Amino acid sequence: MTEATVPSDGQAPTRWITREVLDEAAGVLLEAHLARSKEWFPHQLVPWELGRRFTDDDDGRVPEVTLEDGVASALWVNLLTEDNLPHYFQAITATFGADSALGEWNRRWAAEEQRHSTVMRDWICLTRCLDLVALERARMRQVSVGFASESRSVSLIDGVVYLALQELATRVSHRNTGRLLADSTGVAIMNRVASDENLHYLFYRDLASAALAVNPSEVIQAIDRQVSSFEMPGAGIEGFAGHAASIASAGIYDFAVHYEQILVPLVLRSWAIESLGDLDADGEAARSHVLTRIARTGRVADRLRAAQQAQQEQRDSSAACPAPAQFLVS
Ligand SMILES: [Fe+2]
Ligand SMILES: [Fe+2]
Repeated sequence: MTEATVPSDGQAPTRWITREVLDEAAGVLLEAHLARSKEWFPHQLVPWELGRRFTDDDDGRVPEVTLEDGVASALWVNLLTEDNLPHYFQAITATFGADSALGEWNRRWAAEEQRHSTVMRDWICLTRCLDLVALERARMRQVSVGFASESRSVSLIDGVVYLALQELATRVSHRNTGRLLADSTGVAIMNRVASDENLHYLFYRDLASAALAVNPSEVIQAIDRQVSSFEMPGAGIEGFAGHAASIASAGIYDFAVHYEQILVPLVLRSWAIESLGDLDADGEAARSHVLTRIARTGRVADRLRAAQQAQQEQRDSSAACPAPAQFLVS
């Protein structure tokens, strides 16, 4: 597709979202990113004093770092997802190209992302809070297989919209995982990684906003497609459905979180899709479709929150009523 198509009715030419169109905004956003991001060192966050040589029959676990199932699943999925960086870099290079600001951003982004698996793995190894042999086998499998999204080739603007959703979802997931850790070094690591994800999110959010100003109809169709088909890149991890259920029941990432912390702040508030002007018929149809979908997600989120609250109230009231004495004697 060419960058501009001149219609026969004398209206202004349509500008499609191409690399050339996005590159100027990408250059400005890359400069802003470099000014905002602070240098940090994974080795300074890790408690090396816990390190020693472990034998096969010595699990070496640090007693303070015992994980509930949902937190263990979140760390497992998050780390394996971060490990898969070579595949994401390859897919993004294929979409963004290697030249100019978009390619430069992608290389810088990859360098930052590599710190995440480094620091998380070091902390997990030192605390032995996960089964390290099973984790290494899962990493080998994951990186050898790649990830599901590689099989779908997406347009440039679809890629940008997806990455905005995904970076925000990753920020939320890392931050909520950190909140449930009892170990202060683990909390600091997850917060540090989440801060990086936030800056990545801002880059993609604002790049999509720049594209909306150029061709809102093309971008809203991409938003509709990506919101409708969204799944995290770790969805290809073996046993993902079980881990996702466990992560949801721990309150780290569930339907309500997706609605309240991703769709509302990004799609409804930042991109303000309800008030977009200059949409053609396809753009209007896409807006209507995605708004209906988001409203439906909101209703499911409300029901989920109500059920969670009822469960909590039930737990609170059973904790307040001591059990009859005969049940306390085994
Ligand atoms: Fe990351
Ligand atoms: Fe990121």
